[in-house]
Amino acid sequence: MNLYDTIQNRISVREYQNKNFDSMTLDKVKALLSHINPLYKDIEVRLELVHEDVKSAGMGFMNGYIKIQAPYCVAAISEKRDGYMENIGFIQEQAVLELTGMGIGSCWLGTFDNEVLRHLLKVNDNEVITNVIALGYPEEKSFRNDGLRKLLGSKRKKETEIAFYKEWGEDAAIFLDNKPLLRKILKASILAPSGGNKQPVCLVFTEDSVHFFVKNKKDNIVINPWAAIDAGIFISHFYFCCLEESIHINFYKDSSEEKFKIPSDTSYIISMKLDYKYD
Ligand SMILES: Cc1cc2nc3c(=O)[nH]c(=O)nc-3n(C[C@H](O)[C@H](O)[C@H](O)COP(=O)(O)O)c2cc1C
Repeated sequence: MNLYDTIQNRISVREYQNKNFDSMTLDKVKALLSHINPLYKDIEVRLELVHEDVKSAGMGFMNGYIKIQAPYCVAAISEKRDGYMENIGFIQEQAVLELTGMGIGSCWLGTFDNEVLRHLLKVNDNEVITNVIALGYPEEKSFRNDGLRKLLGSKRKKETEIAFYKEWGEDAAIFLDNKPLLRKILKASILAPSGGNKQPVCLVFTEDSVHFFVKNKKDNIVINPWAAIDAGIFISHFYFCCLEESIHINFYKDSSEEKFKIPSDTSYIISMKLDYKYD
């Protein structure tokens, strides 16, 4: 399966087979959780695999009224520093895509028992558990993984709603018409999962770069810090698709929100310089 097929096949799995990984698979899972590629190298992160005590993780949906039973989960523990939310999103989505490629189902979860996991995983005062990810082999022919998924929300926004050219609100269609490779990467990024399927990420293309933003503010105050996780996930898709296409990229900060005429409910995250010969 190539990366695009993996992205296409990934869904949030909310019902799992009662089946553990064999020892080879378990070793592979542990290895990929420990070899993480961060967005910001200076933020300490650990991804802890939970198995024996997975039931006490309190994974669920609909405000926790409905529980998710999975044989494993990964708890994401991060140092709390500037950018830690997008960093943790970026890191874990790599794991999610690799696991999907191995036939392992997953579901990002903001619904979990924080206190129990903090105690179990000996989380320090300067660390936070940002989320967990349920893991296991997906139950086939499952209403939760099909009909319910659609009911909970799995439709994606259109390219025109999230991608702009040079400044906010400026249609990127003509720019992307001339760059089919970038459009292909954008389409794969739009399939990134997001909390409540809110899809808060927007981007602005300039000639050699793409600038990522997230809707997370009201009256210029950040009211949804978790949206930055969604931004990290989206950026992860974009980044790995660039690598797949042999596009060399460099991350940098170009935080002039005025330059891009960004609305007041939106925050700048990061920019990527794309070094490739245009299609
Ligand atoms: C940060 C984050 C938190 C999430 N939290 C939950 C959750 O608590 N419960 C749940 O059932 N799904 C959760 N999801 C899954 C989203 O609902 C799902 O990604 C979205 O509806 C799109 O569906 P898809 O992933 O199947 O494409 C979360 C996703 C993300 C990225």
